Amino acid sequence: MPDKLLILPGDGIGPEVMTEVRKVIDWFAAEKGLAFEVEEDLVGGAAYDVHGKPLADETMEKAQAADAVLLGAVGGPKYDKLDFSVKPERGLLRLRKEMDLFANLRPAVCFDALADFSSLKKDVIGGLDIMIVRELTSGVYFGEPRGIFKEGNERVGINTQRYTEGEIARVARSAFELARARNNKVCSMEKANVMESGILWRDVVQEVHDAEYPDVELTHMYADAGGMQLVRWPKQFDVIVTDNLFGDMLSDVAAMLTGSLGMLPSASLGLPMANGRPKALYEPVHGSAPDIAGTGKANPIACILSFGMALRYSFGKLDEAALLERAIDAVLADGKRTADLMQAGDKQPVSTSEMGDAIVAKLGELA
Ligand code: NAD
Ligand code: IPM
Ligand code: MN
Repeated sequence: MPDKLLILPGDGIGPEVMTEVRKVIDWFAAEKGLAFEVEEDLVGGAAYDVHGKPLADETMEKAQAADAVLLGAVGGPKYDKLDFSVKPERGLLRLRKEMDLFANLRPAVCFDALADFSSLKKDVIGGLDIMIVRELTSGVYFGEPRGIFKEGNERVGINTQRYTEGEIARVARSAFELARARNNKVCSMEKANVMESGILWRDVVQEVHDAEYPDVELTHMYADAGGMQLVRWPKQFDVIVTDNLFGDMLSDVAAMLTGSLGMLPSASLGLPMANGRPKALYEPVHGSAPDIAGTGKANPIACILSFGMALRYSFGKLDEAALLERAIDAVLADGKRTADLMQAGDKQPVSTSEMGDAIVAKLGELA
């Protein structure tokens, strides 16, 4: 039975980068015999334009039934004025919540070919390989009460940071499991100095550690200091585990350690299904980039690497995932760069589709 892959290109540069991912999927199907049953559907503004909401119920059902979902990006200025309940971003949040994708893995890896490129010094980021595990289905993104209310003569906007022990414990376990397969270190980030939810977070992570993962080295850090340390000396970290909002911000910071937001993939994983595989959605960390949409400037690597994470975490194709990463590093080493990876004095950038073609050609050379 072929693996079922649901592709949701979304908005802005989402469909542009996804076109390049399709080339890579086709290559693996033709050359490595990986059989995928690929179906495409709408999410975000593209779904709103057709259905009047950012995720149709039928699409939600398809996502629940898929072996993996691959998503481009959602949102854009065209939809900024829509009612909050139907904004493109709500479609993505619904997918994450209803599929219960509580562990969001955001690896920040500095490819050798880009060690010179980051705005940070080469010795700070050369060889960097860290994993941010962001809690994705709770916290201030989903806590109640929430809304904009009238209080006397003025409006008040309310969101609530809420975490249960169980929600903290399960994402902590994901982080410890990942650490065991890497360098065995976890740093947990919260603000236990000012937030009760942070105190509980710290306690529960420590309890799970002591009871189940005493072999893993665990440290705790306030999330603001964590942001500073990520830029000062990121190689001190192996796995970072943190909440939904801090994880959102810290992973964008980490993106710049790799050279560009266009380089950072992610995997959002839930509990294992009956077949032992986790429910899973793969997407680049970046958004729909309205400023460059339609210009052929988008870097497709974050989305292609997200498919690489699907090969690894959903399909157990570790060799194939490693081959894809080697091909990307080699293409970058050849000097092929999209505009976001150019420095003053560099030669002409390649377009989105030229980058996709170069990666496919390199796969052929290396395989
Ligand atoms: P963004 O990530 O879309 O863009 C930030 C900057 O990075 C822009 O200058 C953009 O051109 C650049 N950039 C991003 N991806 C790139 C790529 N692949 N190649 C080259 N350059 C790239 O963030 P934003 O501008 O804050 O948000 C734009 C829209 O995207 C908003 O509607 C936001 O809600 C949405 N968004 C969606 C997701 C998602 O779908 N997962 C993530 C973040 C933002
Ligand atoms: C991300 C994005 C999303 C988030 C938005 C688009 C809902 O910024 O995936 O990082 O805030 O989680
Ligand atoms: Mn984000």
